[in-house]
Amino acid sequence: MPITTCVFDAYGTLFDVTAAARQAASEPDFAALKDSWPEVADYWRQKQLGYSWLRAVANAHVDFWEVTQNALDWTLEKTGHDGDPALRARLLALYWELQAFPEVPAMLRQLKAAGLNTAILSNGSPEMLEGAVKSAGLHDSLDALLSVESVGVFKPDARVYDLVSQHFGCAKDEVLFVSSNGWDAAAATGYGFTTAWVNRNAEPMDRVPWTPVHTLKELSEIPALAGA
Ligand code: LAC
Repeated sequence: MPITTCVFDAYGTLFDVTAAARQAASEPDFAALKDSWPEVADYWRQKQLGYSWLRAVANAHVDFWEVTQNALDWTLEKTGHDGDPALRARLLALYWELQAFPEVPAMLRQLKAAGLNTAILSNGSPEMLEGAVKSAGLHDSLDALLSVESVGVFKPDARVYDLVSQHFGCAKDEVLFVSSNGWDAAAATGYGFTTAWVNRNAEPMDRVPWTPVHTLKELSEIPALAGA
């Protein structure tokens, strides 16, 4: 089946999750982050994902905003920044306006010009996704923002990937699913999507039962992969 529908993970894939800590570190009020921001960004992300998986297997769902705050609180304590409530507030505010990677707007426009369906499928709450898409100016290039909140469980539960066919009425093999998270691209392969893992930082492949179909360095190769 030709690809009719391109679906993107949000955090780390379209939006740069390290941008919040990097930006705060560049502001005079938060000079304490100057050296530690990469570590803060990394702990924050790893804990956020870990808590999402824990809540999924424990059947104890809360939305991704709560998980994001829990992960930040752990991170600030771990890195000795927990005595700075203004830093916490600034990092959380910046998470609502993460930068999109530079190639994203043109890549999405190219998919739309070729008549493909486009969507985000994300752990993010609808409000978080709206905020990020609005601040990056991507609304016109995305047909749907699909959030796990409509099924109340995080990726990689199959009910999340089911949202794509439910929304677009398409078959699994018409979908190109794109994620920078190796585990997400791998699990979506197991689900039945054609997948592309965007491996910007040359990370090793996750040792899980499935392998992403394509591996890319960044997103500008997506239109060619989708036949656009
Ligand atoms: C998301 C996380 C996994 O956007 O990055 O779903």
